[in-house]
Amino acid sequence: MPRSTVPASLDPSGPAADSIAGLWWLLLGAGTVIFLLVVALLVIPMLRRRRTPESTIDDDHREEVPSRLATGWIVGLGIVMTGVLLVAVLVVSVTTMRDVSRAAPAGSLRIDVIGYQYWWDVRYPDHGVTTANEINIPVGQPVEIRLTSADVIHSFWAPELHGKLDALPDGTNVLVLRADRPGVYGGECAEFCGIQHTNMGFRVVARPLEQFNGWLNLHRQSAAGADQPGAQVFRAEGCAECHVIRGVTADMAAQPGPDLTHVASRERIASDTIDNTATNLADWLRDPGAVKPGTTMPTPDLTDEQIEQLVAYLDGLT
Ligand code: CUA
Repeated sequence: MPRSTVPASLDPSGPAADSIAGLWWLLLGAGTVIFLLVVALLVIPMLRRRRTPESTIDDDHREEVPSRLATGWIVGLGIVMTGVLLVAVLVVSVTTMRDVSRAAPAGSLRIDVIGYQYWWDVRYPDHGVTTANEINIPVGQPVEIRLTSADVIHSFWAPELHGKLDALPDGTNVLVLRADRPGVYGGECAEFCGIQHTNMGFRVVARPLEQFNGWLNLHRQSAAGADQPGAQVFRAEGCAECHVIRGVTADMAAQPGPDLTHVASRERIASDTIDNTATNLADWLRDPGAVKPGTTMPTPDLTDEQIEQLVAYLDGLT
């Protein structure tokens, strides 16, 4: 995915990210004005003093001690200006926090996102759809993301759409995403969670409602080709102990690995680490640890022929 030169959080595409970016610009603006003011107050008297020739400075001016009244004014003004600024920043911060933590309207689409070392399980509980690392949402509609973790603390961050929010093993955090424009928005884990923390990416794909419904309907369906050689390898070689392919393997309440029912429809694999191509998939199956050191996926004991059959099968799971 081409990365824009503007940091994603300053290129907001939804109301929550918009609020956060607004606060950021306000703080930058206020900080810059205050910095310039303080520098000016420091530099101007220094320059003025330097411009006064030494010979013209009489004894009265050698030690310019401000009067008590002047000192009182300076301190008082400093306190008042600082107080006003801090209160203003507090008000804007609280308003932004209220904006970004607003509840989703009743009837909003609910998506459960569960952080795992090192990938994201994505479920649409009202539609019987499970996928991984790619969160499809309809454009322009608030979507309720319910965040948890299966192991350690992760943090869900799609900077163009929202601020960061922790995914905790012992509680549910809720954030409301809304994308105002169709597109693919990058996301990442923003809490150090282990060796592959850097490669715990995801993407949010925002589509017009009709296309999104098409995506949802397709993903409701079970996988085809249960009798293909690759499907048999999948069942026989232990893949099904961690991954579900609906229609091919038994369902699991908690699955240690990503759901693969429609894996070919995803653009990337290994948590947004590599493109979903046949070559990359074969490399991944040959030695997952070489692609993602520290991955919890064990190296499968497969022959080249079995890998070929598996790749052909998985590539057909659109
Ligand atoms: Cu998960 Cu960092």
